Amino acid sequence: MIFGRVKPLDAILATAEKKSLHRSLGAFQLTMLGVGAIIGTGIFVLTAEAAQKAGPGMLLSFVIAGFVCAVAALCYSEMASMVPVSGSAYTYSYAVTGELMAWLVGWALVLEYAVAAGAVSVGWSGYFVGLLREYLGIALPSEIVNANALIAHIQLAFGAAPSAELSTAIAVGGYINLPACLIALLVTWLLVIGTKESAFVNSILVVIKITALTVFVVLALPVLQTDKFIPFAPLGFAGISAAAASIFFAYVGFDAVSTAAEETKNPQRNMPIGLIGSLAICTVFYILVASGVIGTVGAQPLMDATGKGIEPGNATAMAAACADVGNQAVVCSKEALAWTMRQIGWVQIGNLIGLAAGLALPSVILMMMFGQTRIFFVMSRDGLLPEVLSKVHPKYNTPHVVTIITGIFVALFAALFPVGALADISNSGTLFAFAMVAIAVMVLRKTDPNRVRPFRTPAVMIVAPVAILGCLYLFFSLSAYTLTLFAGWAAVGLLVYFLYSRHHSHVGRGIVEVHEPEAYEDLDPPVPGTR
Ligand code: ALA
Repeated sequence: MIFGRVKPLDAILATAEKKSLHRSLGAFQLTMLGVGAIIGTGIFVLTAEAAQKAGPGMLLSFVIAGFVCAVAALCYSEMASMVPVSGSAYTYSYAVTGELMAWLVGWALVLEYAVAAGAVSVGWSGYFVGLLREYLGIALPSEIVNANALIAHIQLAFGAAPSAELSTAIAVGGYINLPACLIALLVTWLLVIGTKESAFVNSILVVIKITALTVFVVLALPVLQTDKFIPFAPLGFAGISAAAASIFFAYVGFDAVSTAAEETKNPQRNMPIGLIGSLAICTVFYILVASGVIGTVGAQPLMDATGKGIEPGNATAMAAACADVGNQAVVCSKEALAWTMRQIGWVQIGNLIGLAAGLALPSVILMMMFGQTRIFFVMSRDGLLPEVLSKVHPKYNTPHVVTIITGIFVALFAALFPVGALADISNSGTLFAFAMVAIAVMVLRKTDPNRVRPFRTPAVMIVAPVAILGCLYLFFSLSAYTLTLFAGWAAVGLLVYFLYSRHHSHVGRGIVEVHEPEAYEDLDPPVPGTR
């Protein structure tokens, strides 16, 4: 019976019992924590991708994605407050739907966290390149700021027909995104030596990000031209859905709030305020910022020769189309908000917005990689991944092996792939995990109704199904190649499970451990940015 291996909730909770964290966070701190974790590459960079997919209709995409996140977040919080241990969706699934599903969720979370860290690294790189150019007059050669030429060569090697598009990509593209690769390695090093983001640093970064977005809105909205909003949906509702599925990335990170449930005062009141509050603040900002972009520089997508919108994940096609328009379109910019400001005459403000992104995005990378190391750590502790991964560094007291392995992969993703493709792949994993959590919440209400729930999802029998449907809708609005990659990744995951993990599983071998290595204490909450 493949769904039979369930890790009892009490065994999971026993691992968390010995540490009882001080309940110190109120609604305001939670909201700040959420805003700090949420605002990042999504709004600063992917606005351009969303415009390419939906045109001005991306405004609706932001609302749809924000709504799906809000309902998913309400479910996530019930689980997080009830099972306040590391591993998030993976751990919850282990208790409810059993080992195989838990494994698949954990495997999908690699997409959520590691690939997302790669995406944010690439986003950061775009702003970094812009800053070097504007402040120091250094133009990095195109060979080292993206891998479009390399991708084109690979496409040709795998039998793609030679085309003008591929030739342009080879002519103007590069071989590695070096800044993205280096920032990922730098963050890895910070994590290995045990850097944790303090609440103080988080507040400073939140202020920087909010200030940058506010300045953008204040300067862009007065010069907004309503005719730029027409046609509103040049690629139809399908385009709006596709953009919503991509821009979902801009909201990911709110799980930082859910995972702080155990450190929250009066979670029943403060968790929903923190979650919905931070999502609402971000949604309002995102809509205002997107309106500013659309109304000033326009956001119409680039079309191919047949009149179809070019898929922004297709790096070579985009590179060629952008070369055709001399890169004079927001959809071509790697630093959409700074570019927009410069275009409307605020050159120095554009540079400062670039600086804000340059300072703030590394902390998003740090949070994502931290999340990934925790998930791997817990999976390895459960025996599903080799034990060497949960080795803790004698001096720094960090899971250095898993951090370094994660960091190398993140650096590789960042070096080779475009930001939009990485964000979409990350979204596929996140949406799958969120849908599983919503299912777990409903199942546990039936099978374990009396367990203490510090936070209960309001109207759960409506909210959870809406969350599941919302996640499915966004999941299937992702591009075909993203879904194919997701399926491929899941297939590899199943192979690893049946060849390795199933035989090594502690639950499968009857080991239900409640003791953990001492050092593990240091890897558990506090969540980055809470202390
Ligand atoms: N929401 C985060 C970002 O946009 C992941 O960078």
